[in-house]
Amino acid sequence: MSFETILVEQRGAVTLITLNRPQALNALNSQVLTDLIQAFAAFDADPSQRCAVLTGSGEKAFAAGADIKEMQPQSFGDMYGSNFFAGYDRITATRKPWIAAVAGFALGGGCELAMMADLIIAGDNAKFGQPEIKLGVSPGMGGSQRLTRAIGKAKSMEMCLTGRMMGAAEAETSGLVARVVPAAELLDAALKLANEIAAMPPLAAIAVKEQVNAAYEMTLQQGVLFERRVFHSLFGSEDQTEGMAAFVEKRPGNWTGK
Ligand code: CAA
Repeated sequence: MSFETILVEQRGAVTLITLNRPQALNALNSQVLTDLIQAFAAFDADPSQRCAVLTGSGEKAFAAGADIKEMQPQSFGDMYGSNFFAGYDRITATRKPWIAAVAGFALGGGCELAMMADLIIAGDNAKFGQPEIKLGVSPGMGGSQRLTRAIGKAKSMEMCLTGRMMGAAEAETSGLVARVVPAAELLDAALKLANEIAAMPPLAAIAVKEQVNAAYEMTLQQGVLFERRVFHSLFGSEDQTEGMAAFVEKRPGNWTGK
């Protein structure tokens, strides 16, 4: 499959998606969204693919935001009428796990896209920020919500109100990213982690993703009940039978995803 604004390749069971508008620091225009929707849908539908990595081209930027030049002439009617950015909900609907590998700038929509991932790995040159206020607007792709859930109100409010960028080390201690690695090793580290996840029983991986995401949507009581029911349901899978037999027989599991 070939795209105008992204590169997609399958590396074994891992799909690598690379934002590819380096001349605009990978700014996210409508074509990028169209391409991402198609690439993530194809990844989700392909049984040979178990985990994805989304990254930026070059070390300078993961993505420097939504495309300001595309948004500049838009009116309220244009934005509201087209439900601008709503297409990103189709990316967050991806059922299989995926990782954002962030080097350089992840600003505005770039930070928001990274936060749509199941987890973020950052290069040590990563810079996260929500600078929309400096353009006379606000976050619009989930930043005010996901950043606040990730790092708490005080830091999120400070970043969204001032546009201050957060470096990789602070992003790690604040809980925004899972791990920081030297920028030159970022892709290898992300692919290694993706391969580790890809080797897990696929139904259990989807189930775990649903459970953890439920923590953002439900009360504790509802979430714990949801978790328990999902756990129960995995006892209907071949991989549960295989996984527990493999443990008892002291051998690696052989997963069917059924
Ligand atoms: N949209 C469109 N083009 C962008 C862009 C963006 N978000 N960010 C960078 N570019 C373009 C620049 O216009 C420039 O193109 P030209 O060479 O044609 O002029 C090219 O990318 C390189 O950028 P700079 O010359 O500015 O590079 P720099 O190293 O001097 O600065 C930067 C880097 C600090 C990231 C700066 O580019 C910048 O501030 N970018 C905008 C960041 C921003 O405000 N992002 C939020 C966008 S709004 C949003 O995302 C809404 C939302 O909630 C979803």
